[in-house]
Amino acid sequence: MSRVLIVDDEKSMRITLSEFLKKEDYEADTASDAQTALQMLSQTEYDIIVTDIIMPRTSGIELLEKIRESSSTVQIVIMTGEPTVETAVKAVQSGANDYLTKPIHKDIFLKTIRNMEKMKQLTDEKAKLEEENRQYQKSLEEMIVKRTNALQDAMQGIISLLSSVVEIRDPYTAGHQRRVGNLSAAIGEKMKLDEKTVALLRMTGYIHDIGKIAIPAEILSKPGTLNDLEIQMIRTHPVNGYEMMRNVDLPEVVGETIYQHHERCDGSGYPKGLERDEISIEAQILMVADVVEAMMSHRPYRPAMGLSKALEEIETNSGTLYHAEVVAACAGLFHEDNYAIDDSEHKVIFPL
Ligand SMILES: [Fe+2]
Repeated sequence: MSRVLIVDDEKSMRITLSEFLKKEDYEADTASDAQTALQMLSQTEYDIIVTDIIMPRTSGIELLEKIRESSSTVQIVIMTGEPTVETAVKAVQSGANDYLTKPIHKDIFLKTIRNMEKMKQLTDEKAKLEEENRQYQKSLEEMIVKRTNALQDAMQGIISLLSSVVEIRDPYTAGHQRRVGNLSAAIGEKMKLDEKTVALLRMTGYIHDIGKIAIPAEILSKPGTLNDLEIQMIRTHPVNGYEMMRNVDLPEVVGETIYQHHERCDGSGYPKGLERDEISIEAQILMVADVVEAMMSHRPYRPAMGLSKALEEIETNSGTLYHAEVVAACAGLFHEDNYAIDDSEHKVIFPL
């Protein structure tokens, strides 16, 4: 049975109403003012509160507002001897569930209490379902985060593996892809590209020479000049890489950037001889990062050429071979931001 609290400064009213309730097997307590009621509410949980409006010190409306600050489910019935529309509206606005006018008739009173009891049960059930739903949503979100992290760790491992596979065959370029990936991401950030594009630039950089797996190791590490056939074989690596990436469930831009990373703005690059806007911004960035990093590194057929030579190459050919904005961003990194070639493997964040 429900527990009811009667709040009224009139003793006879408290006794009468609680007797009505007790005869119907309700548990009923009484309070002579709002302060006492609030104290009782802090110690005992009530299902229904029946309160008078006009009481000394704190009115029923003020009590109602205070109760609603901590509970939205307790059912509150307001009683008054002045039944005006304004009072009723004010009571409902303050969170009352029903309204009784004095004198109180037993039948109407008990009927109201029974309705409130049903309302309380429904409200409790609704609150319970909402809480269950919140818990379910929370556990679902936690599971998604956990699975997403596991998936990203797995993809990070795959990218790292793919990167190392090429380097095993071409040890002279150890770390080249990682450094190009990091420089590409830095250029992307300098150009204020969005987070997803920057993340994909880094990832693509880490594996951009994957197509070299199909080229014989002795050609990759040959110290002297390459003959025409060998050059042709080396030049197949962007297409090989693209073909390999086509069947991998990664954004298309990864494979396309790999395909285009040896193109040049004036159409002198390979494999297709694409020009300017035909080349994506990602490939424009990767090609500049690739050239700068390669020139700064030692190769079997030549010593390292250093940063100033590398920057001279891209700045001299800015707007012809290389995208001017990309060149400006890359040169700005070294000239203004003291960027140092970054050899570390960053976490490749996959925007899902
Ligand atoms: Fe390449």
